[in-house]
Formats: sequence, C-alpha cells, structure tokens
Amino acid sequence: MVHEMGQDEAGTGKSEFQMKRFIAFTLAITVSSWCAAATEDAPLDAVYINLSDTASLQRGARLFVNYCLSCHSASYMRYRRMGEDLGISEELLKEHLLFAGEKPGDLMQATMPANYAKQWFGVVPPDLTLIARVRKPDWIYTYLRSFYLDVGSPSGWNNTLFRNVAMPHVLYQLQGSQRLVSDGAAENGKPVFRLERPGEMTPEEYDESVRDLTNFLVYLGEPVKLNRYLIGVFVMLFLAVLLVLSYTLKKEYWKDVH
Ligand code: HEC
Repeated sequence: MVHEMGQDEAGTGKSEFQMKRFIAFTLAITVSSWCAAATEDAPLDAVYINLSDTASLQRGARLFVNYCLSCHSASYMRYRRMGEDLGISEELLKEHLLFAGEKPGDLMQATMPANYAKQWFGVVPPDLTLIARVRKPDWIYTYLRSFYLDVGSPSGWNNTLFRNVAMPHVLYQLQGSQRLVSDGAAENGKPVFRLERPGEMTPEEYDESVRDLTNFLVYLGEPVKLNRYLIGVFVMLFLAVLLVLSYTLKKEYWKDVH
C-alpha cells in the first residue's frame, strides 16, 4: 500500500513536471514567433497585382528571363506553358526569351551551375518558382527597390530589407545606384535613399518595371490562378441559375399545401 502511494506521488510529480515543461515550451514558441514577426515587420511598399494585365506579365517575363534566370531557376515552369498562358507565340518566345539554345519544352533552369554559384556567392540562389508565395508580393517589390551601395560588402551592394544579402543589385543599370541616407530608425521605419547616379529609367519607370516583375512572379507561383478566376465566374453563374430553378421548384411544391 505504502509502496503504491509512493508510486502515485511520483506519478503526479512527473506529470506536473511534464505540464510545466509543456507550458515553458509553448511560451518559448509564442515569444520566438513574436520576435520573428517583429523582424519581418519592416515596413513594405504595397504593390498592385493584376494577373489579368497580360502586357504587364509579358514585360515581367522578359525582365525575369533577361535579369534573373542567369542565377535563379524557375524549375517548375516550362517556357512553352508560360508562352501559352501569357499569349506569347512560339516564334516570339524563340526570338526574345530563349537565348542559350533552350527549347520551348524545357524547364526554366538557371544558366549558372549551382556549384559555381555556391563558390561565388557562398549560397546557391534559391529557385524562384514559388518565391511570391513564400515572401509575398509586397516584400519582393520592396526588396528589388532597396539595394544600395555598400563598400563593406563583398558584392559592393547591400539591402535594407535583406541585410548583407549575397545577391548583387542586378537591375542597377535600370535603377541607377543609390546610397542609404537613413535606415529608417527615425522616419516611421522606412529607409531613405538618395539616387547617386541615375540609371536608364526614371524612378517611376523603374517602380513600374519592378511591379511587372513582381506581377510575373505571382503568376509563376500559381499559374492556375488565371483559370481559377474564370472558373469562379462560371460557378457564380451556375449558382444564380440554380437559385432561380430551386425557387420555382419550391413554389411548385408548396402550391398544393396552401
Ligand atoms: C548574380 C546572380 C543573381 C542574379 C542575376 C539574381 N539573383 Fe536573386 N539572389 C542571388 C543570391 C546569391 C541570392 C541569395 C541571397 C542570400 O541568401 O544572401 C538571391 C536571393 C534572391 C531573393 C531572396 C530569396 C529569399 O531568400 O527569400 C529574391 C526574391 C531574389 N533573389 C530575386 C531575384 C530577382 C527577381 C532577380 C532578377 C531581377 C534576381 N534575383 C537576380 C543571386 C542572384
């Protein structure tokens, strides 16, 4: 009996310990997710995404192939599928978007082999097929406009949204080069840049191009979204017709009861 009681007490002690451990664990997770959210809470510039703007998607595709595909791949997408979705004929595809002997049926692979990239940048540039779903469009739009000159970094560039990023500012010819005036500690969290040397585009044109690119990356992350919009319209029409039918049917059934 005594022996059993002893065991009971030990049992209660153990479960109490487990309970405490569980509470501590839950607290730790909550606090760390708050911290993570706080670091991700950098103010972002909002971007207007419109997947029915085919011209914007086509411009975005062109920028992507010209400026990003050398390092990053989009290896869940084939050139042909992209062409079909965005209304780019196979001739135009071959003329403007296939440079290194790729075929329309090929997956969109990076030109640079991963081991070279690792050697040069220290990290392999991530696949960008799903990046707009991982990072969200506002983040990408802000990121591509937040590169600034930094002599202290290996590439000569840094980024306020992604500190010490290994990616150089690949669009600097278009945007020009900017310096960081203030990292935003004072001005409601937003960094302030000064354009030191203008690029080929005005700041407005550059923002518009980055918007096209972001629009394209959103399409890339979920190509069926284009079809889903259409299916949505059909579903609403179907429900409307069904409503009329069921209402007349109901009237027909209840006619005899009243
Ligand atoms: C010269 C090679 C190179 C080119 C060209 C390049 N990138 Fe990168 N990019 C990188 C590297 C390397 C990283 C990884 C950075 C890190 O982890 O520090 C990266 C990271 C990124 C990230 C962040 C990924 C993450 O971790 O969330 C995004 C978004 C991105 N690149 C978009 C682009 C876009 C869009 C283009 C075309 C305009 C582009 N990149 C062109 C090398 C490149």
